[in-house]
Amino acid sequence: MNEIILRPLHAGDEKAFMDGLELFSDMDGDWYSFIWELGIKFETHLQTLDDRFHGRNLAPGLVPDSMLYAFLNGKIIGRSSIRHDLNDYLRKVGGHIGYAVATPYRMKGIATEILKQSLIYCKDVLKLDRVLVTCDENNEGSIKTILKNGGEYQDKVLAKSETIYTNRYWINLK
Ligand SMILES: CC(C)(COP(=O)(O)OP(=O)(O)OC[C@H]1O[C@@H](n2cnc3c(N)ncnc32)[C@H](O)[C@@H]1OP(=O)(O)O)[C@@H](O)C(=O)NCCC(=O)NCCS
Repeated sequence: MNEIILRPLHAGDEKAFMDGLELFSDMDGDWYSFIWELGIKFETHLQTLDDRFHGRNLAPGLVPDSMLYAFLNGKIIGRSSIRHDLNDYLRKVGGHIGYAVATPYRMKGIATEILKQSLIYCKDVLKLDRVLVTCDENNEGSIKTILKNGGEYQDKVLAKSETIYTNRYWINLK
């Protein structure tokens, strides 16, 4: 497989982003973007991403974040949402990093590569010493992705419902 490039969106990425929306259309919209809305201009979308990166105009309780997209041959096939800090919810359940891979591209090592590059970003850009990564206890693909990237199991918490536990792992970046 060719190289995966994980990076923020640029002004020239509108077509790739719109094609990605289609590719991710079988999944809940948040797995592709937390902020995209039909009809907004792409440049407005980029401005909102930049505001969130810098912590400008954040809704109450939100922390600054980076949304990075995984490009393969110019096509968006995955994404990583990286929270720069932890609030109470993220410390308990959400963690620093959440990633997704488009359905046709799964089981090819792409999430493993996305998390690897996300960790480099956390260390080099955000200057974090360690990150919390979480997933549902029954999400075998995500558990393996975390363990392959050095995740150390901490515990599991009941958060979303009475039945599905969230596993919590720390990854040391030093
Ligand atoms: C979970 C997810 C990110 C995995 O992406 P992926 O690109 O298929 O993962 P990888 O190919 O890097 O796989 C990592 C390991 O998990 C295994 N794996 C992946 N999906 C699996 C599944 N559904 N069941 C069992 N094992 C799985 C792979 O075989 C690989 O193990 P190996 O190295 O021993 O062969 C993807 O299924 C997804 O986007 N799911 C929806 C969103 C989500 O759950 N995100 C995670 C939130 S914490």
